[in-house]
Amino acid sequence: MRSILKNASRSLSSVPRRKYSSVLPPGRKVVVLGAAGGIGQPLSLLMKLNPLVSSLSLYDIAGTPGVVADISHVSTRTEVVGYMGEENLGKALEGADLVIIPAGVPRKPGMTRDDLFNINAGIVKGLCTAIAKYCPHALVNVISNPVNSTVPIASEVFKKAGTYDERRLFGVTTLDVVRAKTFYAGKTKVGDAGISGGSINSYKAVNVPVVGGHAGITILPLFSQATPKANLSDEEIIALTKRTQDGGTEVVEAKAGKGSATLSMAYAGAIFADACLQGLNGVPNVVKCSFVQSNITELPFFASKVRLGKNGVEEVLGLGPVSDYEKQGLQALIPELKSSIEKGIKFANQS
Ligand code: NAD
Ligand code: LMR
Repeated sequence: MRSILKNASRSLSSVPRRKYSSVLPPGRKVVVLGAAGGIGQPLSLLMKLNPLVSSLSLYDIAGTPGVVADISHVSTRTEVVGYMGEENLGKALEGADLVIIPAGVPRKPGMTRDDLFNINAGIVKGLCTAIAKYCPHALVNVISNPVNSTVPIASEVFKKAGTYDERRLFGVTTLDVVRAKTFYAGKTKVGDAGISGGSINSYKAVNVPVVGGHAGITILPLFSQATPKANLSDEEIIALTKRTQDGGTEVVEAKAGKGSATLSMAYAGAIFADACLQGLNGVPNVVKCSFVQSNITELPFFASKVRLGKNGVEEVLGLGPVSDYEKQGLQALIPELKSSIEKGIKFANQS
């Protein structure tokens, strides 16, 4: 038995490293902070299903053991370990390649995302302080709202700790892209989306970049760049833009006090996390929209297409050609996005 193992390990070590790693990508440790929540639970399940994840660390201030017991029975190779309470946060984070943060309170009808600031700003600040200490090189995906402020808060925390690398910090805006794609495909019937409601593949073929930020008019879908191309009237583009901007509110109202988007957000968060892991593994040309440090506008943070790589953001891509309507949208969103960014920076620098 021992000799079989010996031979096996010899034959593995004789395989050229590059060839071996292209067959079996390195297993990654992913941490979900807020794992027992409405987003955290289905997102953790989707990460358990991701073949790029070998270790899944689930942390929450309450309710983690039940989620871990449940998800750990799913038959994939990913090892699931749960942590509960602040005293265990360091252990949860150690060795992380990617940390996803859906911790914090969701909206109720009548609230804006900024109304969540008072509670969620402190939660994100505390969690990022621990990230700086225990896994300073991890990629960080911030889902907690208001994203337009929580991402700047995270950057200031990391700067203070001396660990900030702008390539590793992301605000997750994938749900805006998911919505824009769904509404565009549904309206235009491009990519066979009209046949029996469309197949998963036909919707996958559709793409719509969404830029700016993640709240109301700061969410700016660029339907002029949507693919496959379709002829839409000005009125139709205005209606699709408004529906994308109000997508979160549509769900908040439908849930009538029971929270905001969780299932579609888990789907979107899993897509973005998978893209980050692909980038880490050296897969070329992984491009997604995300709210990142940016110099493509006058604002220090902005959502646009970014190319992902082994260090996180490889390149922040420009806006490309935009229509007059989108130009107006860009002008209109700047003041609100600027003030949300400044609010986050100010909060993080208060003692
Ligand atoms: P939820 O209340 O169902 O879950 C939040 C979880 O966070 C809870 O389990 C709670 O115990 C946990 N938590 C609270 N404080 C914590 C801390 N200090 N450390 C670790 N965990 C902590 O809420 P939800 O529906 O999952 O939404 C979570 C956040 O995501 C909200 O802020 C919401 O607005 C935001 N959100 C963002 C997007 C986006 O597109 N970026 C989409 C949907 C929701
Ligand atoms: C969303 O877009 O669904 C989230 O930001 C949650 C919300 O409050 O709308």
